[in-house]
Amino acid sequence: METKIFTTSEKDIMEAGEIIRKGGLVAFPTETVYGLGADALNEEAVKKIYLAKGRPSDNPLIVHVSRKEDIAPLVKEITPKAQKLIDAFFPAPLTVILPKSEKVGKVVSGGLDTVAVRMPENETARRLISASGCPVAAPSANTSGLPSPTRAKYVIEDMNGKIDGIIDGGDCEFGVESTVITLATEEPTILRPGAVTKEMIEEVIGPVQVARAVLEGMKENETAASPGMKYKHYAPKAKVVIVDADKKAYENFVNRQKNAFALCFEGDEVTIPKVTFGKENDDLSQARELFDALRLLDEMGAKKVYARIPHTTGVGMAVYNRLIRAAAFNIIDLRKPFTIGLTGQTGAGKGYVGEYLTSLGFHVLDSDKFVGRIYEKNPEILKKLSAEFGNDIIVKGEVDRKKLGKIVFSDNEKLQKLNSIVHPEVIRLCEENAEIPSVLDAPQLFEAKAQDKCYKIISVTAPESIRLERIMRRDGITENEAKKRIDAQLDEEYYKSNSDFVIINDGKNDIKKQIDTILEEIL
Ligand code: TXA
Ligand code: MG
Repeated sequence: METKIFTTSEKDIMEAGEIIRKGGLVAFPTETVYGLGADALNEEAVKKIYLAKGRPSDNPLIVHVSRKEDIAPLVKEITPKAQKLIDAFFPAPLTVILPKSEKVGKVVSGGLDTVAVRMPENETARRLISASGCPVAAPSANTSGLPSPTRAKYVIEDMNGKIDGIIDGGDCEFGVESTVITLATEEPTILRPGAVTKEMIEEVIGPVQVARAVLEGMKENETAASPGMKYKHYAPKAKVVIVDADKKAYENFVNRQKNAFALCFEGDEVTIPKVTFGKENDDLSQARELFDALRLLDEMGAKKVYARIPHTTGVGMAVYNRLIRAAAFNIIDLRKPFTIGLTGQTGAGKGYVGEYLTSLGFHVLDSDKFVGRIYEKNPEILKKLSAEFGNDIIVKGEVDRKKLGKIVFSDNEKLQKLNSIVHPEVIRLCEENAEIPSVLDAPQLFEAKAQDKCYKIISVTAPESIRLERIMRRDGITENEAKKRIDAQLDEEYYKSNSDFVIINDGKNDIKKQIDTILEEIL
């Protein structure tokens, strides 16, 4: 089919309106995103929308009107709260769900007994609806699953050849779809956040709920309050990961990534290829540019994208809601001081893992080195240690680690005492020196209770016989002494059940491959 491109001239709008009236499909601009319109009361016409978009038939469409008085025939009743919202906002980027009237068919309502109604603010949209002479059913004019189109060129990309016409009305003002609120439930509930914010709505009708799936995504077996929630959305071809971090930590993180793109705010100091979506403290600008940015990333051939996290208040809630779906709910939490906690039993070969992570651009903090620093030059700690373990352990103003080791490795109580003096200071120093993405390399990570400071924990294990050999060779000690050290540690089971990932370093399994697989999952 040939798709005609219309302007916003009177003649073109009349022609486009006639196409809709006769059962055809026309895409048109609204203040949110482009919509794909058909006569809402013509079930055959509405079916074509689902077909053109590849949209599941149980996902209902929004019915658009150009005048407030056209709402009443579509619904059972305009409830008092609905009336308040209509009076306060319409025409607006706001959609209200109410029990439907007999007039509204099963196809447009996706089989539900409710209907979503919206009166758009965009003048071209309202002129088209008027010209059609009927309520116009219109989902976003994208192929199902792709980012909604904010410019005519994206509608052409997705819909050319599949629909009768496209009205080119320039770029959309808000860039994210309307706020959807249901008044068909006991408590008014926002099913999709948009430019009309929760705060704005509450000023008019009092407290409203936000459906859980808006910010968190659906759990398995959960029924969707809005069918649209359960489907994949806004997804570019690239794999998108949201980075939960402040500006500095985000920059540090992305600038070390290879073969990746940044989806960041204007002014972020990013050295890898990037696309921006608005300004940090301007959620309207983020909303306006997000879908455009996602489409642009695809055009640029991005395979992996690290996105900066938007705020979740005001219009930011709408931005976050779309972005988290584009990211299929993948978020890296870099708010913790350490990205990765690396631990494992002595002799398991943790050092090698640390070296490899360093070569990949991680900032690895070797806790042993900080222990050394404390033993050499922390007078406070030295005082505490000599009071506890005797002056003998201090030689030339420094702790003699061998002597101290002899004392504590054969006496668990003394070891605990030593740990309680040294651990907090070591972790504090590591934290002070950490740069995102950081790795806390600490054999005593669990004993030091540092697990909550790490985003993910990797443990390295190896069979005991291998570890014994490695320790004896490394430290020049007897088998007996090595065995004592192993026995003083947590057992393998503990490491396994308290870590996110376990690396087996028995000389047979490829360590780098194991690490790469883990990083692929974390990052
Ligand atoms: O800004 C917008 O709302 C745009 C423009 C074109 O107006 N339209 C739009 O439509 O975004 P669409 O179909 O892409 O999204 C409508 C959302 C879907 O998630 C759908 O599941 C939900 O609204 N919805 C529609 N009718 C519903 C109903 N009766 N009950 C619950 N959810 C409903
Ligand atoms: Mg849509």
